[in-house]
Formats: sequence, structure tokens, C-alpha cells
Amino acid sequence: MASRKIIIDTDPGQDDALAILLALASPEELDVLGITVVAGNVPLPWTQKNARKICELAGKPGTRVFAGADRPLIRPLVTAEHVHGRTGLDGPDLPEPTMPLQAQHAVDFIIDTLRSLPSGEVTLCTLGPLTNVALALQQAPDIAPRIRQIVMMGGGFFEGGNITPAAEFNIYVDPHAADVVFRSGVPLVVMPLDVTHQVLTTRKRVEAIGALGTPVARAVVELLEFFERFDEQKYGCDGGPLHDPCVIAYLLQPQLFQGRDCNVTIETGSDLTLGMTVVDWWGVTSRPRNATVMRYVDADGFFNLLTARLKTLCG
Ligand code: RIB
Ligand code: CA
Repeated sequence: MASRKIIIDTDPGQDDALAILLALASPEELDVLGITVVAGNVPLPWTQKNARKICELAGKPGTRVFAGADRPLIRPLVTAEHVHGRTGLDGPDLPEPTMPLQAQHAVDFIIDTLRSLPSGEVTLCTLGPLTNVALALQQAPDIAPRIRQIVMMGGGFFEGGNITPAAEFNIYVDPHAADVVFRSGVPLVVMPLDVTHQVLTTRKRVEAIGALGTPVARAVVELLEFFERFDEQKYGCDGGPLHDPCVIAYLLQPQLFQGRDCNVTIETGSDLTLGMTVVDWWGVTSRPRNATVMRYVDADGFFNLLTARLKTLCG
């Protein structure tokens, strides 16, 4: 079966790093056309460098990385150094990247790729604020029907928010971009906090990754041990939620996840609930069902997949 063509849009971020590693470790199923980078967890100069560090850690320096938006459409940039550290990839001491950053802007790469490949062939996997994707849709509305699917980490409903009581970080940073994407008509699959808070990097799971004994595994353990400390203190749980790899895991083993088609509308006006994903899970409105929202995941199956794929990376 031909591998699925994807573009990963990301703001690395330790959990983004695990998602990128999982994708690059799955060449039989996924053809990573490029990685487009956005400001989010940390500013763009860091996120674009981090993306290249992760590709080199995976032993895939030929991966094309493109820098994109350095700020949201309208809002000032909000970052998350308190979670990810000053660099956004705190934990391991990874070498400075030597692979190049592509000269083309990420938004132009997204548009050109969607226009040049047959319609319905490219899936966008978004792991951060949706600024790059929204800009592409605004600059080139013709690409919307050409996108096979957007699989995103973002939002929350029964789980609430993580950066405010009402909003999840990726949506909160750029709610106007999220509004563009959720109104675009593109088929959407959403991995909200309701799912990602079920995939915790427990000690047992981190030890299983460490037992792989490879350089990649050692770096991953250091990434996770840094990343999980914030959520462990905040929620009092064993491990932190491994948000972004859920997007890639869905493409590899969709049966790990369960959800339903719902309307999702983004709050862009209220200061109190800015960036809230209003999910009509019980179908109490007549608003169109514009997204498949996941709510359940087989967490052990997810970590078995992740660990098995990390084992194949010998970078
Ligand atoms: O709220 C979690 C999301 O925000 C993840 O994608 C994390 O990397 C940050 O971008
Ligand atoms: Ca992210």
C-alpha cells in the first residue's frame, strides 16, 4: 500500500518531537513531504532549529524543514517556556543542527505542494497553533478541497483548557486561525485534551523506552523527563500527557481512537473564554458537524506503537 503523503506543521516542543520521531520512524506508512514550523511553544527561531535537531536525531537530515509564521494572525504571541523550557526542547543536550532550513516560506510550501499533487492526496498534521494553515487557506482558498484531511492536536471539551480554564494552548495562541480552519470545510480529525490527557508518560512507560538502549531512546527519556514535570506538579499524576504523537498514531493505527462527528466552534470574542473549542458532543444544536472529535484512546496500545517505532530509529 502506498505511503500516505503528509505535511507536519509544528512548534517543537518535546511532545512535537515525539510526534516527528514517530512519523519519521514509519516510512512504510507515511511519506513526510515536509515539516512546516510555526511560533508557539517558543518563538520561531527556536522552533525551526528544534525541528531540524529532531530530524537529525532521527537520522533523517534530508527532511525538508520550512519556517512559517512567527506570530498569530491577530493576537500577540503567547509561548510556553514554563512547560518546554527556554529552548522549547530542554532536556537532552542535542547538537546544533547542520541540515539546512529551506528558503521557501512554510505557507508557500503548503500551497505549492497542495496545488502540485493530485487533489485529496495530502494530509496536514498540525501539532501547534494553526497560523500557517490558516494563512495558506486565506492566501489560496483553492487548496481547501485539495486537502485530504487535517489531523490536529487541539482543543478540549469535558477536560476544559490547559492554558486558561476554557482553552487549550494551540487554539488559544491563535483562535482566529483556528476559526478559519474549522470553517474551511476541510475534513478535520481533532485530538483534544480529552484524549491526550489519557496518554501519560508514566514511569513504567518511560523506562520501557529507556530500555531500548539507543541514542534516540536516551534522548527521548531526557525529553520526557523534562516535559512531564510541569503536568505532574499541576495535575498530581504519574507522567505528563503526550499530546502531539496522538496525531501521528491516529494515521498509523486509527483503531486506537474513538470519537464522533460533532460541530466545533471557536470562541474568538470573549476575553473570558477566548480560544475555547465549543464542542457540540451531544448534538444539541443544528450547527454543521465539521469535525471528527476523538474522546477515547487505548493508551497502552499507543505506547506500544510509539516504543516499537522508536526502536527502529538508530540515528
Ligand atoms: O496543549 C498542548 C499543545 O500545545 C501541544 O501541541 C504542545 O506541544 C503545545 O503546542
Ligand atoms: Ca505542539
